[in-house]
Amino acid sequence: MNYYFTKKTNFYGNSTPRELVEKYGSPLYVYNESILRQRCQEMVSFVSYPNFTVNYSCKANTNLELLRIIHEEGLHADAISPGEVHVLLKAGYKSNEIFYISNNISKEEMLYVIKQGILISVDSLSQLKQFGEINPGGRVAVRLNPGIGVGHHKKVITAGEDTKFGINLEYIPQVKDIAKEYNLNIVGVNQHLGSLFMDGDIFIEGAKLLLSAAKEFSNLEFIDIGGGFGIPYHKQDNEPRLELKEFGKKLSKVLEKWAESYGKKVEFKIEPGRYIVAECAVVLGTVHAKKQNNQTIYIGTDIGFNVLARPMLYGSHHDIEVYKNIPDNNSSSLEKVTVVGNICESGDIIAQDRLLPKIEVGDILGVMDAGAYGYSMSSNYNNRLRPAEVLVKCDGSHVLIRRRETLDDLLRNFIL
Ligand code: LLP
Repeated sequence: MNYYFTKKTNFYGNSTPRELVEKYGSPLYVYNESILRQRCQEMVSFVSYPNFTVNYSCKANTNLELLRIIHEEGLHADAISPGEVHVLLKAGYKSNEIFYISNNISKEEMLYVIKQGILISVDSLSQLKQFGEINPGGRVAVRLNPGIGVGHHKKVITAGEDTKFGINLEYIPQVKDIAKEYNLNIVGVNQHLGSLFMDGDIFIEGAKLLLSAAKEFSNLEFIDIGGGFGIPYHKQDNEPRLELKEFGKKLSKVLEKWAESYGKKVEFKIEPGRYIVAECAVVLGTVHAKKQNNQTIYIGTDIGFNVLARPMLYGSHHDIEVYKNIPDNNSSSLEKVTVVGNICESGDIIAQDRLLPKIEVGDILGVMDAGAYGYSMSSNYNNRLRPAEVLVKCDGSHVLIRRRETLDDLLRNFIL
């Protein structure tokens, strides 16, 4: 049961987790190409509406090789920073395949994006003005806040009452005034309710709100109804997947009906990040210590919150698989443990009070579903090195797709 996910998916291909760690070091991000491709295909075929684009929200993971695979599967991308644009272009995405969803950006940044020929979405009246000043007569999109939000934690709810994002619907008249003043062509509206929903109905409700607001604009080429598609992080407890079939059918109907009444062929976009990449990665780490402090048994590993920040930041759950160094005859024995990293903060906890197969020093742990907001939120805190990334290809072989940082990388930006 403990290896349920990686066994079922043949996650490590022709290798074992231990062989990968021996070759590439620990901790290590391991990605599985087949799972990545499968998730892309599920999103691309999500709705039957013909003019439909999936923009991969690359903040979830910008590994160049993964970006290339995602592009090969027919996805476009959204970006939020010049750095993301830079990497997307390098990975082969064309300017017209990138949508820049900006938030509070400088004139210089706006100009950079415009010069790349990339369409920008702005999310405040003042940024729309700024856009008009530097690019009068230009094409632009606006991000609206439909008034409802979703998310696994209040920090990632990006619409509704309590968020910095989007333009509230009551300001649409002012949006139009500014557009008129600068002769701007509003070609798209977008929204993002937030990150991680497991029930499609809320997404459809949000889409309907955006669609009804979109009628206010007469020249739309596209409507982007956002991302946030959730994945089951509790697989070991049989958490069901997000149901896509009925959800997609229902949504298609809503989109088709709207497009008919708008009287113009519009494109619909979605922008999933997590759904595409979360499940295709495991972080492998090594157990270096075990001790009991009062009531708690601590398993000390090299997977600190510099490597995977989500548990520390949001209290997020990630399933853990245990790969024994010395096979345990009594393999059914479980122990309640708290799995921690090697960073000098007590909050450096990957899993608290988790019932796991008995763990000893030398064992390897796999932290599941780490592909989204894993490496992309890793850091050099405590001057630790970011790990290497390895891809297990469809044929079961593996290849390094980002080298581990070196100590010299830590000195790169100093004036020596
Ligand atoms: N579009 C916009 C405008 C976004 O801000 C985001 C995510 C997405 C799309 C993609 O959302 P997704 O499909 O991945 O849920 N670090 C957090 C998640 C932050 C999401 C930020 N925005 C986490 O680890 O859960």
